[in-house]
Amino acid sequence: MQYRHSFHAGNFADVHKHVALLALIASLQRKAKGFFYLDTHGGGGLYDLRSEEARRGAEAQHGYERLAATTPRSAEIDAYLAAVARVRALTGAGTYPGSPLLAAASLREQDRATSIEFVSQESRHLQRSLDAIAALAPVATRVECGDGYERLVALMPPKERRALVLIDPPYEAADEYNRILAVLPEALRRFDSCVIAVWFPIKRQRDADLWLAKVTRLLEQPTLCAQLWLHPRDSAVALNGSGLLIVNPPWQTDVRLALWQEELRELLGGDGNSGSEVKWLVNERT
Ligand SMILES: C[S@@+](CC[C@H](N)C(=O)[O-])C[C@H]1O[C@@H](n2cnc3c(N)ncnc32)[C@H](O)[C@@H]1O
Repeated sequence: MQYRHSFHAGNFADVHKHVALLALIASLQRKAKGFFYLDTHGGGGLYDLRSEEARRGAEAQHGYERLAATTPRSAEIDAYLAAVARVRALTGAGTYPGSPLLAAASLREQDRATSIEFVSQESRHLQRSLDAIAALAPVATRVECGDGYERLVALMPPKERRALVLIDPPYEAADEYNRILAVLPEALRRFDSCVIAVWFPIKRQRDADLWLAKVTRLLEQPTLCAQLWLHPRDSAVALNGSGLLIVNPPWQTDVRLALWQEELRELLGGDGNSGSEVKWLVNERT
């Protein structure tokens, strides 16, 4: 079956990934010089949490909706909730914005954004979703229907010589992990200071660890790995945790991530089966 993000929008993994995305954007915006934001797997852009698809698994109830009822201490979680609220003010209270919309609503005039989506119907939906929040976005995001991995390589290096890339695939194809292993060194060979965030699911921890070991052997750039899990990591079918690889993380990303990720675990109802870890996979070379 073709992957539909509308079933999962606003779940705890979306929250984890989207807080991290906005924190990375904020870090890059500490400098006035503009940067290029590339979303290789854009999705549909805007999701209706009241739709039958979203209500079926009630995933947002344990993610965004639970978090929105709390008062977080971390600036990063606060900024994420504020960004969702800004989009909702234009699109309606039951909606949830995907990564291209959250980014578009956070970029500055000097920044630039492109989102790739493989499924043409979804890419048209993404374009309409971005149009709906145009008043919030000082720069228009370019939407392309195509293969995110191929476009990533083709678009590097960007003319700004500063870039943030989010790779957020559905992990339904058997070769997804291998495609990431192939594209990361290729993109970094073309532009070695590119900041790249890769989201990955944690089902069985040992499966995730095997892949992370391959990534570690492959990369030379400093790379962080952030993992948040809410359930025992022993089932090959359930989404038990959410992982992020961050290549070339901006200064202090490790310190801040450890703080807000642990708070997110608490706020999302972490119990004895939950945990949060931030570690360097590849250390900064001196
Ligand atoms: C997990 S969703 C993306 C969600 C989005 N990044 C967000 O946070 O809101 C993955 C999307 O990737 C699309 N997709 C699958 N294979 C792709 C490929 N090779 N290139 C670009 N998009 C792809 C799927 O159609 C799906 O819409």
